Amino acid sequence: MQKKFSTLLLDWYAACGRDLPWRVKGGAHPDPYIVLVSELMLQQTTVKTVLPYFEKFIKRFPSVRDLADATLEEVYLYWQGLGYYTRAKSLHQSAKMIAYDFGGKFPNNKSDVLKLKGLGPYTVASFLALAFNKPETVVDGNVIRIIARLEHLTDPTDEILPLIYQKAQSLTDKNHAADYASAIMDLGATICTKKNPLCDTCPVQSFCKSKGLADIEQIPARKKTPKKDFNGYVYLITNSANQILIRKRVERGLLSGLYEFFWSEEPLFDNAVDTKKEVSHIFTHINMHLKIYTLKSNTAFKDGFFVSPENLNQYAFSTLMQKVLRQI
Ligand code: ADE
Repeated sequence: MQKKFSTLLLDWYAACGRDLPWRVKGGAHPDPYIVLVSELMLQQTTVKTVLPYFEKFIKRFPSVRDLADATLEEVYLYWQGLGYYTRAKSLHQSAKMIAYDFGGKFPNNKSDVLKLKGLGPYTVASFLALAFNKPETVVDGNVIRIIARLEHLTDPTDEILPLIYQKAQSLTDKNHAADYASAIMDLGATICTKKNPLCDTCPVQSFCKSKGLADIEQIPARKKTPKKDFNGYVYLITNSANQILIRKRVERGLLSGLYEFFWSEEPLFDNAVDTKKEVSHIFTHINMHLKIYTLKSNTAFKDGFFVSPENLNQYAFSTLMQKVLRQI
């Protein structure tokens, strides 16, 4: 008799699943704090990128109480370079809620988990499944790709999402929700990859309607939203003691709460010197290009303050601003 989809997937995961530091295989309950930190880090970010950040973060903040009692400033330092910094702020706020409002006890049902910060439907489901083995279905980009290929759904993803959710739910093994969630993520990351999927080694190939078809890499189909170009100027302003002027970004929006050099879409200073160097950085919706200028000034402009170069590492800068720093 043909084995069930979930049986094939779980058997494959037991044998070939990735060993990741936030994971416990075999349905055992991992520390929910570890799950929360890792799931927030893994939003929009690859496992490879997250691994070194996760290790350092957990070493410095080994428990939810350690994180709750740290300053946001320090949390940003440990997040520096990982991007999407509102995640760090949300995680810090959630840690405070758990440590102090919930008496150190992690919520294990949907309505309480929703009170935490920074958790959308995907992260709520993955947190409950991974931390408490709750019968939740996890639907991320990997799962969307797997289901769309299993069913050979060639329409753009946003048009077939309800169908994908329905199918994903019907396949989930509700008795082994944690391992099933990890297994399907691993299948997407290592076998059912965007390019060159390894269909011949796929444990669920017998269920797949796209195996061997020429259009498999085009599934799921995406509507491309073109990125906007942003061109601007960044100023390395130094005083006579060779200190650099920096400022803190406001605690909302893109890169909130991080530090930066002065920059603007319009040229700000007539007497600045063009270094002929540039930095570029790709954000979710924008391609940013900044020309680097230098300027001598002994007065700190609005909201700015001077810092000695050797003390710059005490401030969390975005990857974009670190690129500026590396250019000089
Ligand atoms: N992506 C999101 N959550 C993940 C997890 N727990 N393991 C691997 N990749 C993930």
